[in-house]
Amino acid sequence: MVELSLPQNSKVVKGKHYKAENNNNIKLMHVYRWDPDKNDNPRIDTYELEINSCGPKVLDALIKIKNEIDTTLTFRRSCREGVCGSCAMNINGINTLACLKPINEIKKDIWVYPLPHMKIIKDLVPDLSEAYKQFESIKPWLQLDEEKHQKNNNVEQIQSKEERAKLDESWECVMCFCCTTSCPSYWWNGDQYLGPATLLQASRWINDSRDKKREDRLMSLEDSFKLYRCHSIMNCTSSCPKGLNPAKAIAGIKKAIVQKK
Ligand code: SF4
Ligand code: SF4
Ligand code: FES
Repeated sequence: MVELSLPQNSKVVKGKHYKAENNNNIKLMHVYRWDPDKNDNPRIDTYELEINSCGPKVLDALIKIKNEIDTTLTFRRSCREGVCGSCAMNINGINTLACLKPINEIKKDIWVYPLPHMKIIKDLVPDLSEAYKQFESIKPWLQLDEEKHQKNNNVEQIQSKEERAKLDESWECVMCFCCTTSCPSYWWNGDQYLGPATLLQASRWINDSRDKKREDRLMSLEDSFKLYRCHSIMNCTSSCPKGLNPAKAIAGIKKAIVQKK
């Protein structure tokens, strides 16, 4: 069983410096490293990257490091297209998807840390199990009136164009948790507050005309911690790499609860 806690009184220390073979067009990349199997402090390793032979995004740089310089560097990635959400990390102080972040937008050195305020499994890999449990709690699936549905011989659930349009700005969410981990309310109350990613997903099902559990969904969210810990600070919206607006979705849930009364 992996122990997901840092050594007592740990602090981030200076790590190794990996020199490039050539001195052509070098960019320095500083990366957070922590290995739970060693009882060491976390450290920042520095890599000299030859930009001419590297792809355009920060994820390309991490892959280059792993392939050519240091195979022990650990991070998540899958699609490399901004659609799986797995390469979320903190780059130069902003939570974002590494596969979408162009290296040439970063004028000085590149600094890469894991998503903030989460337990770390290793290096840039956060432990998302609690966040996924919260996501599961909102029942992120279509709930039909089963009896009626079967009586109608399981016919297709039709939506008008207008009804379908109500799901825009929520279906695009890739569950990267960049928003949730940039939310101060989630940092302090993440054990009870659901956070912007999960609440945006909740709104996606609340607004689905085919779903028959809208009332139940709203009632289960009417809670001073689960929903009302959002104080409209808006960090979530400014950090979303998909350009979504979780703060607006949360305000929409609060409004729907008021209108139901
Ligand atoms: S608007 Fe709400 S969810 Fe978004 S950062 Fe602020 S408190 Fe968190
Ligand atoms: S709302 Fe944006 S930042 Fe939040 S999980 Fe979805 S895609 Fe990521
Ligand atoms: S690798 Fe899939 S979103 Fe970045």
